[in-house]
Amino acid sequence: MAHVTFEQVTKQFGDYVAVKNLNLNIEDGEFLVFVGPSGCGKTTCLRLLAGLESITEGQICIGDRRVNELPPKDRDIAMVFQSYALYPHMSVFENMAFSLELQGKSRAAIKQRVYGAAEQLGIEKLLKRKPKELSGGQRQRVAVGRAIVREPAVFLMDEPLSNLDAKLRVQARKEISKLHQELKTTFIYVTHDQVEAMTMGDRIVVMKDGILQQVDTPTNLYNNPINMFVAGFIGSPAMNFFEVEKVEQEGNTYLQLGQNLISLEQYLPQLQDAIGTRPLTLGIRPENIYHPQYLPPDIQGLNIRAEVNLIEMMGNELIVYLETPDGAEFVARLDPRAKVTSGETLDLLFDAQRLYLFDREMETVI
Ligand SMILES: Nc1ncnc2c1ncn2[C@@H]1O[C@H](COP(=O)(O)OP(=O)(O)O)[C@@H](O)[C@H]1O
Ligand SMILES: [Mg+2]
Repeated sequence: MAHVTFEQVTKQFGDYVAVKNLNLNIEDGEFLVFVGPSGCGKTTCLRLLAGLESITEGQICIGDRRVNELPPKDRDIAMVFQSYALYPHMSVFENMAFSLELQGKSRAAIKQRVYGAAEQLGIEKLLKRKPKELSGGQRQRVAVGRAIVREPAVFLMDEPLSNLDAKLRVQARKEISKLHQELKTTFIYVTHDQVEAMTMGDRIVVMKDGILQQVDTPTNLYNNPINMFVAGFIGSPAMNFFEVEKVEQEGNTYLQLGQNLISLEQYLPQLQDAIGTRPLTLGIRPENIYHPQYLPPDIQGLNIRAEVNLIEMMGNELIVYLETPDGAEFVARLDPRAKVTSGETLDLLFDAQRLYLFDREMETVI
């Protein structure tokens, strides 16, 4: 078990900055997820920690030990790669035993650990098989098993579920979470999938272009994103954004969204002073938009008129694509009982308590 710290860590490949000035404390036993779009530097962060890439600037500590100069094998970590990287000519048992043999462990100790891990993962019956005789899900478990037998202080996992089909991915996700609960070891997990991040992470690091945007619990990231990137990345369908203008009328201040006026005093009083004169973007999540006939009693709805472009009936919800009279497009997740037809004009209700306001140029939350 160990905590991990990144202190002002930068990684350059030639002139290209893949990770920029990363500061991060990962607690002992925590399940931390790195999430972000492809190419944002997630894998590089793991490889720096694993010792598979050199650190350009800054330092990484595992426990209280600086590991910058420590070779990978001495870092007390185990990594599960996206490709699994199983040895094709070795049996499952041999794949799992390999690193222990390198460590010079006794046959009895190796057997005990491999059988223990195999039992934990439900792959006892597969130990004699070769990787090519396994399904994708079974290979994924073997890759995890190979990491478990080493009893590392920190587990690193790089998109370990991306080769599985959707249903298997949901199951494997639960298995990895359960494994973390049992082992109580530090897990650092990389994914581009915000659903995986939200469901598995104690905390989530959101990255963009090599820069940490925000690190927080799933709930706080969802409720209090610090900028438009995080707001748009966490949640599906993504948060809607509208360019709005601040207008004064008869001594009151409003945000103008197309033909609609949103009273600042009434709906966003806490932001009145902070707004100033900068250009603004308003954000609202699709799930905070309601059909007028299905507005929960405790929600204060802001009326917004829009035309229905497209409807996706999901069974449990209606995903409706809409457009305001002045051409702003947005998405709503409506009650599946709502009768909605394509081309019709609706007076939808935005939950006034769930509006976000951003500085349009800086893209930061106000
Ligand atoms: N060995 C390398 N040489 C040059 N560029 C690299 C190397 N490894 C990664 N990169 C670049 O660094 C950026 C971040 O890569 P990576 O960490 O793999 O992203 P992610 O895992 O988030 O998709 C990418 O633009 C990638 O092309
Ligand atoms: Mg990657």
